[in-house]
Amino acid sequence: MKAFGLTPDGRETHLFSLRRDGGFGADISDFGGTLVRLFAPDRHGELADVVLGFDSVRGYTQPTCPYFGSTVGRCGNRIAHGRFTLDGKTYTLATNNAPAGIPCHLHGGPGGFDKVLWQAEQTTVGGDPVLRLRYQSREGEEGYPGNLDVTVEFTVTADQALRIDYSATTDKATPVNLTNHAYFNLAGEGSRSVLGHVLTLNATRYTPVNAGLIPLGELAPVADTPFDFRAPHTVGERIDRPNEQLRFGAGYDHNFVLDGSGSLALAATVLEPLSGRELEVLTTEPGVQFYSGNFLDGTLPGKNGHTYPRRSGLCLETQHFPDSPNQPGFPSVILRPGRSYRSTTVFRFKAR
Ligand code: GLA
Repeated sequence: MKAFGLTPDGRETHLFSLRRDGGFGADISDFGGTLVRLFAPDRHGELADVVLGFDSVRGYTQPTCPYFGSTVGRCGNRIAHGRFTLDGKTYTLATNNAPAGIPCHLHGGPGGFDKVLWQAEQTTVGGDPVLRLRYQSREGEEGYPGNLDVTVEFTVTADQALRIDYSATTDKATPVNLTNHAYFNLAGEGSRSVLGHVLTLNATRYTPVNAGLIPLGELAPVADTPFDFRAPHTVGERIDRPNEQLRFGAGYDHNFVLDGSGSLALAATVLEPLSGRELEVLTTEPGVQFYSGNFLDGTLPGKNGHTYPRRSGLCLETQHFPDSPNQPGFPSVILRPGRSYRSTTVFRFKAR
């Protein structure tokens, strides 16, 4: 464990290293449950840090931090107009995002789980390095109902994977949708573009959006659209096609409906052909937001003196669908007292 700097209100933050022999592993902070570094080998065994981020906590505390490696919650992705009704009561949340000038609540709000200090415990389980993070989110925090107890457990496994297990309980019904917002660049953070990364998504349908990036409610087929990644395509191949959905997202910024459901299943594969690094994403979640880093603009001073231009990182945010609290046709994100929220995502690395 190392010091990672002070929060704006003067609290100490830390960085925890979880490593295997050979160097595969992750550095994770108790501030925001942030995945700060993730080292994976290329086809020659050469390690690179494959996630975008900052060298110290200061970068992550800025309101302009685009959720680099963040643990996202209480309810990840967008909620239209920052409003939802649950059991007859309407809740109003902060609107901290406004695509096309249409306000919404994004990623748990301005004081979301990415901006809080988690209680950390570093340990090993069955020989695997583990970081267990806990957070108690108070009733009314960011406008949400109920006290929520959350645990996020990061495990670095022998098969070169980072597994993230989320669990939560509540004392009042509340929406819960937890994810990690890592931006991957498998050529190494600081490489200019992810447009040459080859992506496969195990999704026959996706959730098209309006100009405010709120789903229309339908599960539309990806067939015959630039959203069909059932066979591998580079990210860049169709990203600039004239297509209303791509125009709304300024590229890919859409939720895909995963074909595997319920149990831990392969959601996505990403190959970076020059290094041979390949990432497999497995999840128990029904969806994944594929975001091609369209809003990155090269202005933030990132790790190792790097800056991150547009589309220099991509996110695969495993999740329930956006705006679920307002979409009766989507799988429910409502957690009730006496029930447990559970979700698992695995980021597994290979080299080709
Ligand atoms: C999410 C959203 C994007 C963007 C990023 C953060 O992935 O879907 O539109 O807001 O977060 O910059």
